[in-house]
Amino acid sequence: MALFITFEGGEGSGKSSALKKIIAYFEEQNIPYILTREPGGTPIGEDIRNILLSSQNKNMDIRTEALLFAASRRQHLKEKIWPALEKNIYVLCDRYLDSSLAYQGNARGLGIDEVLDVNRFATEDSLPDLTFFFDIAPEKGLERIAQNESREVNRLDKEALDFHHKVYDGYVKLAKRYPKRIVRIDASQDLEHVVQDCLKVLKERMEQE
Ligand SMILES: Nc1ncnc2c1ncn2[C@@H]1O[C@H](COP(=O)(O)OP(=O)(O)OP(=O)(O)O)[C@@H](O)[C@H]1O
Ligand SMILES: [Mg+2]
Repeated sequence: MALFITFEGGEGSGKSSALKKIIAYFEEQNIPYILTREPGGTPIGEDIRNILLSSQNKNMDIRTEALLFAASRRQHLKEKIWPALEKNIYVLCDRYLDSSLAYQGNARGLGIDEVLDVNRFATEDSLPDLTFFFDIAPEKGLERIAQNESREVNRLDKEALDFHHKVYDGYVKLAKRYPKRIVRIDASQDLEHVVQDCLKVLKERMEQE
């Protein structure tokens, strides 16, 4: 059976860069897959995303935000992820449930268990088979983004940095809670090694299927 695999970690940890390389393996091996990310290009998901991003909605309540992310996730599952898995197509997803748990749950302070409850309803407990946690100090991840956008990293105020630390701590808690599902990848390595580490784990899991 095809697997549902998610990529998680803070900003600039290299998820999207690694995914671009990881799909080359699926192409070479002729393994059917989809590469997706929330809201997954579903029309309803896009509408929800517009609500989340709209500058008119600056006063959005954190719980409203968590519910909208869960709603978008539900639609993505129903329209794209479940149908793919049913056809035995691998699903590679750039961020998923754990992002909500780390960001809204841990960093914004709603509580991991509270956000999980909402998402259990939304997803009918559909957890990924395998999740890569791209583990890198938040400063380093943010530095990468700053470098490539030639911005000054010290423009980030302390509050913003505290937030990213809380996101990171959230992921660390989740990795402890789900030791089988979540595999930590040393994301401070160069991209080549990050990709190699992911592929090693992936191949092992695929052989077990
Ligand atoms: N292993 C790496 N070593 C050095 N730089 C990297 C590495 N991986 C990615 N980068 C660079 O870091 C920046 C952020 O990478 P990327 O966009 O892949 O991160 P991300 O985890 O997808 O971030 P976000 O959560 O914001 O989407 C990019 O400019 C990318 O080129
Ligand atoms: Mg990305």
